[in-house]
Amino acid sequence: MYPLEDGAFAPINHWYVAAWTSEISRTPLERVILDHPVVLYRKEDGGFAALAGFCPHRGFPLAKGALIGDDIECPYHGLRFAPDGACTLVPSQDTVPAACRLRSYPVAERWQWLWIWVGDPALADEALIPDHLAARLTDPEYRSAGGNYYEVPGRYMLMHDNLLDLNHVPFLHRNTFGGDGGGAIQLPEVTAGDGHVICTFTQPNIECPPFLCALLGYSGPVSRKYTSYFHAPCLHVILDSIEKLDPATGQTAPLGNLLHIHAVTPATHDTAHYFQGEGQNFSHSEPCLSEAFRSSEMVRAALDEDMSATRLIERSIKVHQGRLPEILLKADKAAVLGRRIIQAMIDAEAEQA
Ligand code: FES
Ligand SMILES: [Fe+2]
Repeated sequence: MYPLEDGAFAPINHWYVAAWTSEISRTPLERVILDHPVVLYRKEDGGFAALAGFCPHRGFPLAKGALIGDDIECPYHGLRFAPDGACTLVPSQDTVPAACRLRSYPVAERWQWLWIWVGDPALADEALIPDHLAARLTDPEYRSAGGNYYEVPGRYMLMHDNLLDLNHVPFLHRNTFGGDGGGAIQLPEVTAGDGHVICTFTQPNIECPPFLCALLGYSGPVSRKYTSYFHAPCLHVILDSIEKLDPATGQTAPLGNLLHIHAVTPATHDTAHYFQGEGQNFSHSEPCLSEAFRSSEMVRAALDEDMSATRLIERSIKVHQGRLPEILLKADKAAVLGRRIIQAMIDAEAEQA
């Protein structure tokens, strides 16, 4: 399916972010992951359970149920299930039918989110989760905070296209963090390798955008460089480096780095989950700065701009019966490489199958 080949949806034998751990409590949470309805909840010891989301008896959504210790009880006829998926109680009879069990999904906690594997459980190797220290999310030099969650009103690939396309920033986000309208845009430098795309984009001489002035305590010319790392198929981390610029000499001096952290997980064929956070390395004396930045009106407004673009393009795809004619530009190289990597992952799984 657009922008992938016909019949292709998403690579399944990979880890995806299912939720912020802060979203998961003793109140069950329903979330569809790659067309798998899943119910997530916290066990009494603080660990996590991820079970198929519908009761095998009559299909009632288990997220409507209650927790009895570590078991979840279906509110329709009271069947109970343990975190490993075993049915522990059928109130209306003494025996549990052999087939009466739920699928239990492998999960792993990293940084502030819970990763899930809905593919073949025998292949669920936690070493395949992106290295969060290398990605700077757990780097002690940075203070990073997550917590933004969106239900994306469009297919997941539109979000990957968006995040690999930094040329939209000065335009779509001109009223939020987009800076000076893009007069100084350079074409991104793009490299791709095994399961990743790295894209570098520079604004060599712009006025410091107002929200950065407030954060950095500086106003005047800056040189700004974004380096975007896409760890396919889920995680994007954009390193946003801001340097003070002396336009007369061209000399620069570091002011600080921001991290723009994004995870995109396919939900259904035309919806997705989007998890977003922010980090920074310039204010360790202000422990709440990341939090303030994350929850700022400006960040939420900017994310709304991306959601709106995604919803509108999804509408265009529907108008074109699932096929969208498009003219790709040089600046789309990173997005195209990202599409190819995802398609290659899907193809590799089809070959193995
Ligand atoms: S549908 Fe869940 S117990 Fe009957
Ligand atoms: Fe954007």
